[in-house]
Amino acid sequence: MSELSDKILNYLETSHPVDTLKLASIFEEDHQKVIGAINSLLALDDIITAENVSSKRWELTEEGKLVCDKGSYEVHLFNAIPSEGINQKQIMADVPNSKVGFAKAMSKGWILYDKSTNLVTRKVDSVVDEVQADLKSIQDGKSEAVTDSNKQDYKKRKLILEVTVKSFLVNKGKNFTTTIEKPEADLTHDMIMSGSWKAKTFKPYNFDALGVVPPSGHLHPLMKVRQEFRQIFLEMGFSEMPTNNYVESSFWNFDALFQPQQHPARDAHDTFFISDPATSDKYPAKYAERVCRVHSKGGYGSQGYGYKWSKDEAQKNLLRTHTTAVSARMLYALAQKEFKPVKYFSIDKVFRNETLDATHLAEFHQVEGVIADVDLSLGHLIGVLDEFFKKLGITQLQFKPAYNPYTEPSMEIFCFHPGLNKWIEVGNSGIFRPEMLLPMNLPGNVNVIAWGLSLERPTMIKYHINNIRDLVGPKVDLKMVENNPICRLDK
Ligand code: PHE
Repeated sequence: MSELSDKILNYLETSHPVDTLKLASIFEEDHQKVIGAINSLLALDDIITAENVSSKRWELTEEGKLVCDKGSYEVHLFNAIPSEGINQKQIMADVPNSKVGFAKAMSKGWILYDKSTNLVTRKVDSVVDEVQADLKSIQDGKSEAVTDSNKQDYKKRKLILEVTVKSFLVNKGKNFTTTIEKPEADLTHDMIMSGSWKAKTFKPYNFDALGVVPPSGHLHPLMKVRQEFRQIFLEMGFSEMPTNNYVESSFWNFDALFQPQQHPARDAHDTFFISDPATSDKYPAKYAERVCRVHSKGGYGSQGYGYKWSKDEAQKNLLRTHTTAVSARMLYALAQKEFKPVKYFSIDKVFRNETLDATHLAEFHQVEGVIADVDLSLGHLIGVLDEFFKKLGITQLQFKPAYNPYTEPSMEIFCFHPGLNKWIEVGNSGIFRPEMLLPMNLPGNVNVIAWGLSLERPTMIKYHINNIRDLVGPKVDLKMVENNPICRLDK
């Protein structure tokens, strides 16, 4: 127990009941502290009792405190009168608060005012500042010393006011004692072994306590938003593609997607090539022959690119630059069986040798959706995108013609962002080219529509993060990760 609780108990032993206000003034403690000590004593088993009481008390107003400090206006006025007297206008102008001071000094018979000469003179030799003395008493909590009529007068003069104070009337309880043994908070192994628990008192359980927050990991905002995207795809009947291979051969990342080997994206500026192992020939040889043919000579109604396709170039290992590499693998696998329509999605990391800035990192996440079915058209693509983005809470979409080596037609996706009050680019989409699908041996009437977007952009918008370095990398504030709520994209 605290020292204050001990003092209170010792006091109660001889004098009771006692008001907490009185205890506060005896022990020269803040009243709230006394109440705190009383509350902790009340938590014990009937050591004390306490009853709510409210009482009235006089307190000085701000003006009252000033007068208490500096003296009353009437005394100031009296003191300002010289022995020969002074012109009334003059003294009224010279002395602060002279109006009240003059009236009070007159009614107390301290001064004389001659209307014909306008002269104010002293009527008595000296005066006592009763107002100041009374206010001091009130300030010291001894308002009994002040007569009721004076109190009413000061109240009218707005020097004091009456306030209601709530306190407790404290008395001894049934189990009153001045020596409180601190109750045990824990039942320990030792107490059980020695049997000492039998003689101890235990703190009662507090079933309302919130308890200690268990230390645990926290999901990164990107993972929270990924979960939400995943949920949307699953609701729409998509199944997830295996994306657990960051390293791809150029074949799957580029060649299978009908990206010519001279394409600028393949050179070292945008792609991280792997040095060890530098190459991989793990792709189907027969299929690679068809890919080689469509690149160099064309076929399936296409002219191809008319260049000499190099196996060495296709075998170069790299960090995948888009998850569409995985989509290509999945579509190839699909084409090896009897055709059934599929809806696939993936959300995972990709790597690009980008110039780093506030919105670009060398690694980021792509969200990708792919649908393969007979006779799909651009209308289907737009329809699915509408539905997909609606589930993200985005209802206004616009499409802009674009170019991808592997889709035709291709469309950039823009959405209207009401917060930013402008159209922003959110993704890319298209219908995969026959030059990509037919070498895989997909049936000629099967079309594949697909789209991709980054995971970082919607996450930054959702969590109001302006710099991608605050979201990913060594400068991330772990508290941000810990405190951000789970993601609910506003529907
Ligand atoms: N792969 C594209 C990109 O990296 C996105 C995309 C996916 C475009 C599917 C069309 C179709 O931006």
